[in-house]
Amino acid sequence: MKTQLENIYNSAKADISNAMSISDIDDIRLKYLSRKGEFNSIKKGLKDLTDEEKRTVGAFANQITQDLELMLKEKHDEFYQKELNEKLQNDRIDITLSGKYIPQGKVHPLTSTTDEIVSIFQNLGFSVVAPELSPEVETEYYNFDMLNVPKDHPARDVQDTFYVKDLAGVVLRSQTSGAQIHVMENQKPPIKVIAPGRVYRNENINARKNNFFHQIEGLYVDKNITFGDLKGVLNEFIRLYFGSSRPTRFRSSFFPFTEPSAEVDVQCIMCQGKGCRTCSGTGWLEVLGCGMVDTNVLKGVGIDPEIYTGFAFGMGVERLAMLKYAIDDIRLFFNNDKRFLEQFNS
Ligand code: DAH
Repeated sequence: MKTQLENIYNSAKADISNAMSISDIDDIRLKYLSRKGEFNSIKKGLKDLTDEEKRTVGAFANQITQDLELMLKEKHDEFYQKELNEKLQNDRIDITLSGKYIPQGKVHPLTSTTDEIVSIFQNLGFSVVAPELSPEVETEYYNFDMLNVPKDHPARDVQDTFYVKDLAGVVLRSQTSGAQIHVMENQKPPIKVIAPGRVYRNENINARKNNFFHQIEGLYVDKNITFGDLKGVLNEFIRLYFGSSRPTRFRSSFFPFTEPSAEVDVQCIMCQGKGCRTCSGTGWLEVLGCGMVDTNVLKGVGIDPEIYTGFAFGMGVERLAMLKYAIDDIRLFFNNDKRFLEQFNS
């Protein structure tokens, strides 16, 4: 029996030294040392031996089992180290390589200007109207009629306004003021809203005019709203948008949907009020139109002007952005020249 054990031991040792991989080692362990392995089947014969033999052969069997366990472990560790080293070698990454350049997009200056203006008015208690109350494709009814614009007003001319072909009375809105009517038809006072959006005009394009641009409309209707409230809100807006140091003035004006009406000028950013080409020598630049909502407009939407009054205003986003950043050509906003767009941080 001892010789049998020695034979198996030798053949196991030979197998171990021929092994090439961890999986070979696993196979050898299974073949010799598992419950159904070769050693166990021989050890079963131990019970037929004398006590003396049992002791010596038993001890020998244990000894060689331990030896084999040890050899298998050493070989296993050796292969494991080798495979690990190979893997580390193959999967090596060069951490000194520079990263891939991922260009970062920027918010368009008209978007950031709109966001800034909207947030100023939100802080003053205005909320932004739902988009369906401020559509870009409008009817003459909302764009002109309900805003008290006379049938023969020159703004209605095809020279000024884009009419939708084959659809009578449908226009691309020429002003955001139509949103005032939609809101007042849908909501009872108090109303305190702003409506930012794109407007279209049939203009010859030049440095100051484009055939579409952006406006922000405002409307505040409640009991006891006065021209003093209008001045307070708009002065505060200008202070926050341009900084406290820029002089402003209210100049009386005319709009069909407000009475009285005014325009607000800020001191020219190019010449600091001395007079230059940009401000046509006046030292002032107009930034918005405003006024007290005309009683005809309030009556038209069923709001009693004896109980409620309100003010409205409309400002051009391009103009406000041009004045703040000293941009001298409106077309720069629309021709997507990256050299221009990349100059804006936000
Ligand atoms: N809608 C006018 C325009 O496009 C701007 C305007 C002036 C809007 C006075 C108003 C306002 O709400 O009260 O020129």
